[in-house]
Amino acid sequence: MKNIFSGIQPSGDLTIGNYFGAIKNWIKLQSEYNCFFCIVDLHAITVRQEPKRLREKILETLAIYIASGIDPNKNTLFIQSHVPFHSELSWILNCFTYMGETSRMTQYKEKSLKSGESISVGLFTYPILMAADILLYNTDLVPVGSDQKQHLELARDLAERFNNIYSDTFKIPDPYISSTSSRIMNLQSPDKKMSKSDENENSYIKILDDENIIRKKISRSVTDSIGSINYSDDQLGIKNLINIFSSITGEDTYDIVARFKNKGYGDLKNEVSNLLIDELSTIQKRVKELMDNKDYLEKIYKDGAEKAIEASYRMLRKVKKKIGFI
Ligand code: TYM
Repeated sequence: MKNIFSGIQPSGDLTIGNYFGAIKNWIKLQSEYNCFFCIVDLHAITVRQEPKRLREKILETLAIYIASGIDPNKNTLFIQSHVPFHSELSWILNCFTYMGETSRMTQYKEKSLKSGESISVGLFTYPILMAADILLYNTDLVPVGSDQKQHLELARDLAERFNNIYSDTFKIPDPYISSTSSRIMNLQSPDKKMSKSDENENSYIKILDDENIIRKKISRSVTDSIGSINYSDDQLGIKNLINIFSSITGEDTYDIVARFKNKGYGDLKNEVSNLLIDELSTIQKRVKELMDNKDYLEKIYKDGAEKAIEASYRMLRKVKKKIGFI
């Protein structure tokens, strides 16, 4: 069976971007692959986190994975910092990465523009840690949103570089990026990606937002003055709503446009809200139950760490041997 690795940062409240861009694809792929789904807490501390909140968000992220339909008995669900090999391989790969490569990363460039000199070195080297995550597990496929594509290319480049220097070691991973859900956009500025770290709460929908909030945020989402429903780059807000619609129902975007012919933006917004509420409410109920059952969550992440250690220690051993460590 081929391997999948993917992860989400527990750095805030997960959004429907994380859900449609990542989790929903994981659910689809879990029966055909041997999957490692990680809660990447080491990545989360690239920006300052409040310890109590971080602890809560790590568990909540695990609960969301399970509540969304990821089977903890079939897949390996674990917390990144519980497997020390990630940090260790990350250091090694640091020494094979060029400054220019990490400086070119769009996400780093955007964040450094905002924070200037006070940006952490962790934010700069973060894609190398991500490469370590992926390469440790002989990963074939990495299901992510399109914002992670560049990071994945770095992982491929590093794997190839290492293999060329020391002979075949790492598998070269492929991205899995779906067409309609790979970039769910910001509801207030639909030319930007929806992000859990955005300052404006109306710009994103959390997986755990309640019915009223979802309706309010969708009804306030920015559209345009064209007035008819088309799937077009001239109507980014509407296009985004159609993509959300399609991510839930699986319907083709053309069929969705046809369905709303002669209807108004209010109709589309109303239907998208209904679909979202329907999709998320069952997950929310299960998350609540799971968060009340911390012993169960603890068992899952402890078993997960054991399985992840078992699956990855050989790779690190092989890497160290090839480098010349004793
Ligand atoms: P993170 O935590 O920012 O996002 C987690 C996943 O959600 C996807 N995503 C989106 N997809 C569509 N539309 C959006 N608006 C949207 N926002 C987020 C992301 O593409 C991602 O798939 N570096 C990664 C986490 C990571 C990782 C890994 C992923 C660490 N190691 C190894 C895969 C493999 C990150 O910060 O994702």
